[in-house]
Amino acid sequence: MEIIRTVSELRKAIAEARSHGTVGLVPTMGALHDGHLSLVGRARNENDTVVVSAFVNPTQFNNPTDLATYPRTEEADCRLLESAGVDIAFIPTAEEMYPEEDTRVFDLGPVADVMEGPMRPGHFNGVAQVVSKLFDFTRPTRAYFGEKDFQQIAVIRRMVELEGGFDGLEIVSCPIKRHEDGLAMSSRNVRLTSEQRVIAPCIALTLKSSLIRQREWSLEETRRWVVETINRFPFMDVEYYEIVDGITMQPVKEWSDTDYAVGCITSYCGEVRLIDNITYYNKTAK
Ligand code: PAF
Repeated sequence: MEIIRTVSELRKAIAEARSHGTVGLVPTMGALHDGHLSLVGRARNENDTVVVSAFVNPTQFNNPTDLATYPRTEEADCRLLESAGVDIAFIPTAEEMYPEEDTRVFDLGPVADVMEGPMRPGHFNGVAQVVSKLFDFTRPTRAYFGEKDFQQIAVIRRMVELEGGFDGLEIVSCPIKRHEDGLAMSSRNVRLTSEQRVIAPCIALTLKSSLIRQREWSLEETRRWVVETINRFPFMDVEYYEIVDGITMQPVKEWSDTDYAVGCITSYCGEVRLIDNITYYNKTAK
C-alpha cells in the first residue's frame, strides 16, 4: 500500500491507475472500524484500484470541541487498510487540502435544510467542500458511503449533480454495520464511558421495535413513541427523530405521504452525539 500525503503525488498515482482500470474511493475521517472496512471490502470487490482517504475535515465541524476530540489513530488505520488490500491511503494535512480558505457555498437545496442541516450549521457545506475536492483529485469510478449518515449521502448526490457529475461517478450507498448488540458502528463510540456503552444500543433496539408497531400506529404515534422510549434511558437525550422521504429527506406527516419511509435519529448519550436510522419500507426499490 502506498501512503500519499500530497495532492500532486495523488494525481500522478491516479492518472496511472485510471489508465488501466477503475478506481474506487472510500472517503473517511480515519479512526477506522469494521463499518469502514465493509466499505473498503465492497470497493475492493468492484474496482481495480482502491483509494481510501483519511482526513479529519475541519470545515465540516461546527463545534470546535468535537473537532479537537475527534479520534485520530493514523498508525492503526494504516495497518487495517494495508491488510484490507487497499492500494492507496491518502492522508493529507489541512494545509494540503486547504492551501487557501475554501469560500465555496454549495446550493445544496432542500435535502440539506432539515435534520442535520439546521442542527449543525455549515456542516454539509463543509462536507461538500471536502468531498468535491476528493472527487476532483481522485476522479473515482465509484465512491462508497455508509448509510449511517443517511442524509449525507443525499447531500453528496446533490453536490455531484451541481458539479456536473464528475464523469459519471457512481455513488454507492452501503448498509449500516452494527455491533452485535445493535449499536451502529461509529468512530465516536470510543468516547462512550463503559456505562454509556451498555445503554447506547437502546437507539437501535427502539428503532427496530418501532418497525413492528408502525403497522398499527400513525406516523406521529410511532415518532413520538421512539423519542419517549429512548429518553427514558439514563444518559439519553434525543435531539430529533424525523420520519422522512428517503429520497427528498423531507419529513412526512402520514405513512401514505411517501413510498420510502426512513426514520432518522440523533441522540446524545452523555456528551456523545450518536446517529442512526431505520427504513420502515421502500416501495421504490427494484
Ligand atoms: O462521513 C464522513 O466520515 C465524512 O463526513 C466524509 C464523507 C469523509 C467527509 O469528510
